[in-house]
Amino acid sequence: MAEVNKSSLDPLSALCKRRGFIFHSSEIYGGMPGFWDYGPLGCELKRNVKDAWWQFTVRSREDVAGLDATIIMHPKIWKASGHLDTFSDPMTMCKDCKKLMRSDQIADILADQKKKPQPKITGSDFFCPYCGGELTEPKPFNLMFKTVVGPIDDPQNVAYLRPETAQAIFAQFLNVTATSRMAVPYGIAQMGKSFRNEVTPRNYTFRSREFEQMELEFFIRPDEAVELQYGKVVTLADNPDLNGPVQDDWGWEVWHKYWVEQRKKFLAAVGLPPSTFVEYWQKPDELAHYARACVDIEYDFPFGRQELEGIAARSDFDLTQHQLHSKVPQTVFDDPLKQACKKLSDAEKDAFIAKTRTEWIARREKTLSAKAGKPVVLDEADSAALAANAEAFCRNLFEGKYVPHVIEPSAGVDRLMLALLCEAYEEEKLTDEKGKEDVRTVLHFSPKVAPIKVAIFPLIKKDPDQDRIAREIFNKLRKKVNCQWDVSGAIGRRYRRQDEAGTPWCITVDAQTVQDGTFTVRERDSMRQTRMNYGEFLAMMYEALEF
Ligand code: GLY
Repeated sequence: MAEVNKSSLDPLSALCKRRGFIFHSSEIYGGMPGFWDYGPLGCELKRNVKDAWWQFTVRSREDVAGLDATIIMHPKIWKASGHLDTFSDPMTMCKDCKKLMRSDQIADILADQKKKPQPKITGSDFFCPYCGGELTEPKPFNLMFKTVVGPIDDPQNVAYLRPETAQAIFAQFLNVTATSRMAVPYGIAQMGKSFRNEVTPRNYTFRSREFEQMELEFFIRPDEAVELQYGKVVTLADNPDLNGPVQDDWGWEVWHKYWVEQRKKFLAAVGLPPSTFVEYWQKPDELAHYARACVDIEYDFPFGRQELEGIAARSDFDLTQHQLHSKVPQTVFDDPLKQACKKLSDAEKDAFIAKTRTEWIARREKTLSAKAGKPVVLDEADSAALAANAEAFCRNLFEGKYVPHVIEPSAGVDRLMLALLCEAYEEEKLTDEKGKEDVRTVLHFSPKVAPIKVAIFPLIKKDPDQDRIAREIFNKLRKKVNCQWDVSGAIGRRYRRQDEAGTPWCITVDAQTVQDGTFTVRERDSMRQTRMNYGEFLAMMYEALEF
């Protein structure tokens, strides 16, 4: 959109404060860094973004079920997931001014302050960007918020606010599978608050300490199970149709790409077409050790290009970890797979095991080589252990049993809202018929996420007929969508107020409405006014709101 929204967040954040989208948390006490509140328009926008995601991801599909789990869960979950041991940022402190900062962000902070890094004199690479003082050695700082469950403040009672919603999905995988009557491939979706004790929360609502996530764990068969059952695994080289119905013989690579495409469709539906973001495929050496592929969808925020959401192929890492730590098997039973395997001879099974062993060893060596930046060959002991795992895995497959693999599309509600606000914001220059120049501030939201869908005005507020009819329309429409009633000021001012809120349609009831029931509908982006009746308006509105 307009230049202004790409260069600075200031005009947008001023609008968000002025119009009630976003406030500092606890503002009357000076605020809390990294915590933000959504005001009347912001909470409607947020609700619409979440509803859109749920509709798109869960309700409009036959293969996704929902979950709403607690924020505080058994602490062993975070041991199994790796968050207790590795979910940390490197933190450093200035020995002089005592400011804490992320060591990996110091160069960014200096760049933000338009200062140049000073030459290295002591053990640390930089001096404090705030006072020039000496910095302590970086230490890992775990990002999980700790709390105590129950009245006794004892290490045994320590628990954590969840740093992601995903782990609850894995922890409840068996219950949801048993009760949803769904079978792999299928997904479990959850949205809700997550908490990360960021060392330096920054960039407005982008990196907050309390935020909301929308996550899907889509469970798929291991490729080896697909091969046994269907005789082949469809890969991207087969050029599968990702816009048609999903197929049972897809391998993980196809499922992963399918979900990247689904996420792009969702973003376009809520107002971020592909031309507004970048798809970044992580390089092999950037991938987490358990990930086979990960795509970041990145948006050019005024503070730089940043990740909006990620779509990761996480293999069977998470469920296997929970199986290990809880001692509860996380396998599913796939009868069609068992029946397919019954037809194999012992020799065919042995050949399949041998092939799987070779593939697993080759894959592990490829991953390690990418990380090391040089060829890595597994030693004999590691090869033997992996070969034994591969054989046990195959023998389970022959019985129709496996731990599902997973594709994880993970999005941040607040990040998406910020991107939608940035994309929607425009200070539009207008020239009227007399050549007079003006600027209107407008939020070009998609009607699907706009906080207010329709504003309704009587043209002349003191006209009892216009007032009555406008109220009737308002009362009927607000049972369906969020509407606003406005009678104050000239009609032009009322339109401008709605432009700033991003309201797609304004209905004005005038003298003609009293005669024939038609009213004017003023469309926000084109500012065109069209006369229509109530039925015509409803049909037009529903079409624009449908996914
Ligand atoms: N579950 C992935 C994330 O929270 O980033």
